[in-house]
Amino acid sequence: MRSARWSRRAFLRLGGAASTAAVAAASVSLDDIVAASQAVAGRSAAEVAQDEFYWREIQLAFKLDRGLINLNNGFTCPCPRVVLESVWRYMDMINMLPFHYQRMVAQNIQTVRRRMAAEFGCDQEEMALTRGASESLQIVQNGLDLEPGDEVITTEQDYGRMQTTWDQRVRRDKIKLTRLQFPVPTTQDDLYQRFENAITPRTKVFHFCHITNLTGQMFPVQRLSRLARSKGIVTIVDGAHALAHFPFKLRDLECDAYGVSLHKWLLAPIGNGCLYVRRDMIPRFWPLQAAPERQSNDIRKFESIGTHPWALRAAVGEALAFHQAIGTERKAARLRYLTLRWANALKSNPRIRILTNLGEPAEAWGVATVHIDGMDTRGLGQFLMDKHRVIVVPIIGGVYPNSSHDYQTLRVSPNIYTTLEEIDTFVMAMEDALKNGIPATQAPARNVPLVDELDELDDGQYYG
Ligand SMILES: Cc1ncc(COP(=O)(O)O)c(C=O)c1O
Repeated sequence: MRSARWSRRAFLRLGGAASTAAVAAASVSLDDIVAASQAVAGRSAAEVAQDEFYWREIQLAFKLDRGLINLNNGFTCPCPRVVLESVWRYMDMINMLPFHYQRMVAQNIQTVRRRMAAEFGCDQEEMALTRGASESLQIVQNGLDLEPGDEVITTEQDYGRMQTTWDQRVRRDKIKLTRLQFPVPTTQDDLYQRFENAITPRTKVFHFCHITNLTGQMFPVQRLSRLARSKGIVTIVDGAHALAHFPFKLRDLECDAYGVSLHKWLLAPIGNGCLYVRRDMIPRFWPLQAAPERQSNDIRKFESIGTHPWALRAAVGEALAFHQAIGTERKAARLRYLTLRWANALKSNPRIRILTNLGEPAEAWGVATVHIDGMDTRGLGQFLMDKHRVIVVPIIGGVYPNSSHDYQTLRVSPNIYTTLEEIDTFVMAMEDALKNGIPATQAPARNVPLVDELDELDDGQYYG
């Protein structure tokens, strides 16, 4: 049963929602989301995933440009209005008297650490707050002592920047890097075997994604971590796309370190990440920026970066509250429902190829990929943008740093604010391409960034 209070308020909002979505968005508070979730509390996540009345309330918590259909939430996601407002609030506050208020906000970050650890299943002394997954992962990649000849095993489909970090250690420290290849989609058993077979007496690190940014391929994190531990190998897991996307607890993964982008699926403001380090491993990693010796065992040593915008970090608390108001299970079920809606609509066409595992048990939620046999993937991405105003990401193999994966595909990543109408427009646009073809591409399409181009802008920063 829906609560009468929530139903009445939601109904009033929905009355004029189509024309005044932007105005209505500003009026959806965290209380409204909590009330909406309370009203569906007795139902399963799979059932709620199909309740448009509930998700309409969530959609209105965002201020978006609905003139474009954003199916590229594997990049960075827009944050809900309440989260953005909290950044302004903290900024205003700190700006009044930085000496006084910045300290106060910084102290209160301990509360965010505690809440993050409780939500995602680790000890608060294992949770560091950072500026993104690149920073989190580089702390541990660069922070581990390795001798010349020591080996790191990763995959060619790991994130470009993280491969660049290992490449630099190859040049600087003369370590050896092994990049495994694998087909997509593949099984977790296959991935396990590939890592196991690649181990040598000099292997010191496994580095792999929980799910990849390219196709959403999922890795058997716990099994690989156990294998690694049994041989004294350190596991570094790239969880940029996983945390707050689908349910799991960090401690259950049994890995040594896990880096996350919080501006992806947690919907925190851009410039937030976190790093989990298993407690007894903390002293093994040097911080990226120096910390005093007395902090060797302290997770906070990874956060010592001098003056930085504390308002952004403090707003993680609000993003977490928003996430909790919906709940990971409901969020994951909705993302899966949206993905299966487009995939099921398209997959019976013999020219459609889906390079993501969509079956049960679930390994795909908000990230999946598709391409059309015989059609140029960049051109298709360009067509979807130009004619239908749909944003997806063409993933084109053969471009450095992922130079050896050989497939082309479109990454499609909706979010909890995506409407069914938007998903159906994408399906209709793909059917248009299948039926009528797309304009011949002369030069490579330019105004739809490739994932690798998105990853590396001209300042050397990686994105996507
Ligand atoms: C798999 C993967 N790892 C790491 C990163 C880097 O994350 P950030 O942009 O938060 O530094 C990304 C970003 O897209 C990613 O997709």
